[in-house]
Amino acid sequence: MNETFDVKLSEKHYLPDPRFRETAWTPDYTAAYQAFLADPEAFWDEIARELVWFEPWDRVREWNAPYARWFVNARLNITYNCLDRHVTSERRDKPALIWRGDGGEERTLTYQELFEDVSRFARGLVSLGIGKGDRVCIYMPLVPEQIIAMLACARIGAVHSVVFGGFGAGALRTRLNDASVKAVITADVGYRRGKTIPLKEIADEALADAPSVEVVIVLNRSGSAAKPGGDREVDFADLMERSAPDCPAASMDAEDPLFILYTSGSTGTPKGIVHTCGGYMVGTYYTTRHVFDVKDDDILWCTADPGWITGHSYVVYGPLAAGVTVAITEGTPDYPDPGAFWKMIQDLKVTIFYTAPTAIRMFMKHGEAWPEKYDLTSLRILGSVGEPLNPEAFEWYYQVIGKSRCPIVDTWWQTETGMHMITTMIGEPMLPGFAGKPIPGVVADVVDREGRPVPPGTGGFLVIKEPWPSMMRTVHGNDERYCTYWNTIPGYYTAGDLAVKDENGYIMVLGRADDLIVVAGHNIGTAEVESALVSHDAVAEAAVIGKPDPLKGNAIKAFVTLRTGYTASDDLTAALLKHVRDQLGPVAVPSELEYADRLPKTRSGKIMRRVLKAKELGIDPGDISTLEE
Ligand code: PRX
Repeated sequence: MNETFDVKLSEKHYLPDPRFRETAWTPDYTAAYQAFLADPEAFWDEIARELVWFEPWDRVREWNAPYARWFVNARLNITYNCLDRHVTSERRDKPALIWRGDGGEERTLTYQELFEDVSRFARGLVSLGIGKGDRVCIYMPLVPEQIIAMLACARIGAVHSVVFGGFGAGALRTRLNDASVKAVITADVGYRRGKTIPLKEIADEALADAPSVEVVIVLNRSGSAAKPGGDREVDFADLMERSAPDCPAASMDAEDPLFILYTSGSTGTPKGIVHTCGGYMVGTYYTTRHVFDVKDDDILWCTADPGWITGHSYVVYGPLAAGVTVAITEGTPDYPDPGAFWKMIQDLKVTIFYTAPTAIRMFMKHGEAWPEKYDLTSLRILGSVGEPLNPEAFEWYYQVIGKSRCPIVDTWWQTETGMHMITTMIGEPMLPGFAGKPIPGVVADVVDREGRPVPPGTGGFLVIKEPWPSMMRTVHGNDERYCTYWNTIPGYYTAGDLAVKDENGYIMVLGRADDLIVVAGHNIGTAEVESALVSHDAVAEAAVIGKPDPLKGNAIKAFVTLRTGYTASDDLTAALLKHVRDQLGPVAVPSELEYADRLPKTRSGKIMRRVLKAKELGIDPGDISTLEE
């Protein structure tokens, strides 16, 4: 790709109510950032001291690029901080999890109850011969037991590898074998949009070819009379029943692995991202507290499944370490109707709502009438993650959902980073389209291929210049792949995203570097063209790809889904193309535009442009294990 390129920036911004700043954990971003820069180790040291450690660290950080060790020689258990620390305080009887099923049923577990269930299950795992360092795959629907299983593994030092319950047998098999998993925890069924998903059947298909697996624990959700089959199967409830609720939290070295989580690369097999106990705990605790600014009476609802990093960090570990109440649901945003999520916010009095742009655009498509039926006044803070939050979606989220009252934190981060890295801290001015600045604790920049910072308004590569506690430690079984993150632009961590900064250092993430199209010598980010299309009233979602073109090198093809009430026509196509021309100029106008009912997406909601492209060009799409059905 070309080195750098110019981007048009807008200056529109919003100022939150000054009261947010007054009560925030980080009341003054600039001062906090400067304090961090002055002494990064002291900064992290102070945060880490808010948590309980069995043994203190000799050094905060040891950096032998590209390998970092954090809280060197310290010992801890993350579940001690998520559970034991709270059950010995007034948080004991506070709800830890409030769960809603697909059919609307509800369950609440207090911190004490969660502590007991985790202890029981951890004891059960030990009784089955599972211990420190063993890999355990959790392939479950979004039920409290999924979280109990994760925490139980962490309690005994087993390394969990959560595989999202929406994945098929092939994807599961690859992940089981890559991590040489010893035990699998699954459920007989999951429920989604009123339908039953035969999870165990899918697991069995994968297990037929997963020789390392010795034990399979099955949660009986359907209430079926079927007993576990084969000698390696164990019933979840039986295991709980026969285990006492006392299982001491294993003492872990700060650098012991906590979990492996797979993320799909654009080529090759999925990468098993490895996170460790100490740094990950500190990073997720800190960001939950300071980015979401959680207070003791907050109810945090992060809509991600724990099977994704967003769920690991902001459904499970961060919020529980911070001692807040977590809301979760197995339900989907538009079932039984597009008011489902707003009803949940109203019923549970959710105060912090964290979701993805793809969901926000879907809500926009259904219109304002749905959220307006519900009382959303409990909301205090809104969050977004996973993709660029385009200005249109920002405005809608801000005005229709937040009633211009709630700050929006558009958080940029990755499976690999473990925690939030770039956002607009509560109380700071918000710029639609911009994620914001690196949070205190993170040094991020936009640079050219040689690592030189690019001037404001010029696009380049998003990099992180200093190690941070919750950074990935390696790619499981493939250290070479880990090193490529640090040697693409030598000395820096290359995120693989393109971005641009404005004069004040606000960063706009443009999309993945491989989503850049060079048209007649101009670099065009797919996200820019998509944002322009989505800013037209008729468009719900858009995906843009480059197609080889004899004249221009590449030509742009757009795929568009329409909002309710609009139908495809040549007139509409002409209007949409004109709209892009008006917004971005002639060079960015797609030469082809196709209407679609749906766009191919990953199960976490990211548009898979390379699938559209492969289809268009009749080539191999690469790894599609993360594609939605
Ligand atoms: O391209 C960026 C995009 O999602 C990628 C990371 O994906 P994943 O590992 O699945 O983690 C998603 C949840 C953290 C990034 O490289 N991305 C994530 N958040 C944002 C984003 N792009 C723009 N703005 C964001 N807020």
